[in-house]
Amino acid sequence: MIARAARLSVARRHLSARYLSTRAERVLAAVNLPTDGGEIAGVYDGSWKGSGPAQVSKCPATGEVLAHVRTGTVKETEETIRKTKEAGKAIRAMPAPKRGEVIRQMREALASKVGELGDLVSLEMGKIKSEGKGEVQEAVDICDYATGLSRSMAGRVLPSERPNHVIYEIPNPLGVVGILTAFNFPVAVHVRDFATNMAIAMAAGNACLWKPAPSTPLCAIAVTKLLTPILEKNGLPGAAMSLVCGDVDVGKSIVASRDVDLLSFTGSEKVGQIVAVEVQKRSGKVLLELGGNNAAIVDKDADLDLALQAVLFAAVGTAGQRCTTTRRLFLHKSIASKFLSRLLPLYDSDKLPVGDPLNPKTLIGPMHSQGGVTSYMKTLEGIKSRGGQVLTKRSGPIDNVTGFKEGSGGNWVWPTVVRLKADDPSWKEETFAPILQVAEFDTLEEAIELNNSVPQGLSSSLFTNSIRSMGQWLGPEGSDCGITNINVGTSGAEIGAAFGGNKSTGWGRESGGDAWHQYVRWSAATVNYSDKMPLAQGVDFGFGSS
Ligand code: UN1
Repeated sequence: MIARAARLSVARRHLSARYLSTRAERVLAAVNLPTDGGEIAGVYDGSWKGSGPAQVSKCPATGEVLAHVRTGTVKETEETIRKTKEAGKAIRAMPAPKRGEVIRQMREALASKVGELGDLVSLEMGKIKSEGKGEVQEAVDICDYATGLSRSMAGRVLPSERPNHVIYEIPNPLGVVGILTAFNFPVAVHVRDFATNMAIAMAAGNACLWKPAPSTPLCAIAVTKLLTPILEKNGLPGAAMSLVCGDVDVGKSIVASRDVDLLSFTGSEKVGQIVAVEVQKRSGKVLLELGGNNAAIVDKDADLDLALQAVLFAAVGTAGQRCTTTRRLFLHKSIASKFLSRLLPLYDSDKLPVGDPLNPKTLIGPMHSQGGVTSYMKTLEGIKSRGGQVLTKRSGPIDNVTGFKEGSGGNWVWPTVVRLKADDPSWKEETFAPILQVAEFDTLEEAIELNNSVPQGLSSSLFTNSIRSMGQWLGPEGSDCGITNINVGTSGAEIGAAFGGNKSTGWGRESGGDAWHQYVRWSAATVNYSDKMPLAQGVDFGFGSS
């Protein structure tokens, strides 16, 4: 018997060695994901299941298949929604500070796995090690914030015009929050996309249902496996944080369900607009975080050293795949050539090492998908064909990632800088890739007009040392974006302020500030503690004593 078990374990080791590289095996094992090549269940509603088509998770840096995930069918999705709704009753019955305590325990669990989950993000999404870790830290931070929020989600007491009356504004839980997340922040944006949504939604008394991007199911499964036992330990049903991995059909049934009270969607403007209309058709509530087309303005009086560092990280970091990535750079005419003469050599130098995102020295990882590479190429070709100019020596696909032989199967492109015509259509679109478009300006008014001239309105930065310019930028004639930084790059927002964008970015707000207001239903209650029944606005209906 013992000999047979030993033979089996040797055989399994063999199988796993053949199935996964040591690189991937180490990362998956550290977050308790199977490494034996078997299918992984992608639906959790209190127990793990899934009988829909298999989804393939691939490493963007190497092309290695990391796992096959069994997705949910539409029927399983509907059943999961039903169970999540039921679980919502248990969550809302729990006093808010007790919910905060559950979130605090989740925070501890995430904090104990920052490195491991960060590596999983690097392996499955492709962002570099320190950014993978940073993303999980963002999830930890948001849990801290939500724990505090659980003791401070204040309604209001307002004066009534009627004697011995008082008016309350009261927040109550909505029920079920559906969270559809993008590939680029697979942990935080769940715990930011997701975490920002989940932690705050739960503090506010809601149950959550998560559908991750089809290409990052493992991050979602690992987080769900880590956090749902905490729910159960605290007497809450696991379905209070349910998960359905799936494709468009699963997404559609979540969007269409009347039992999903708030639908939070992070993704493209195109899909987001469809989602918004569908949710509106059933008079549901929607929270959108859509495209960004973010600009950095470097004015004549800016500290160029500081601007250079900020622009470089915001344009090149995450291989240009943050919704907050700097895509447009406006330089004052007097400093433009000086600034570019420092920026461009950095793009072309070894100071930005390309390679395995799990190697701590790497600063440029792969694009997440071949689709991303295609849209990078398409945008670049389009700009060139319309008379635009590529300013960096390197651009296009990276054929040979030096020192990382497994990288030959990955999705690699050179971050690049381009100068394009003022009327080039590319200015108005978000290409989710490391292409920085540059132009010059004369006056701050002109730069602000350029900043505001696109459909999107997520993030923007002004580099200046002038207090007058600061006032102009932050005021009614200033940037029309949801984020209007000064001497700080467009990306890398902290969780304390509300995060989100205006215009076609969707007007949604997540994270801090008053973002929690979106996760509750508000009621206004006028309470009469007198022995009279006066009507408001002095109306006399003949019966009353006023
Ligand atoms: C996203 O890219 O979807 O501000 C979110 C930032 C991060 C969040 C980005 N804190 O870049």
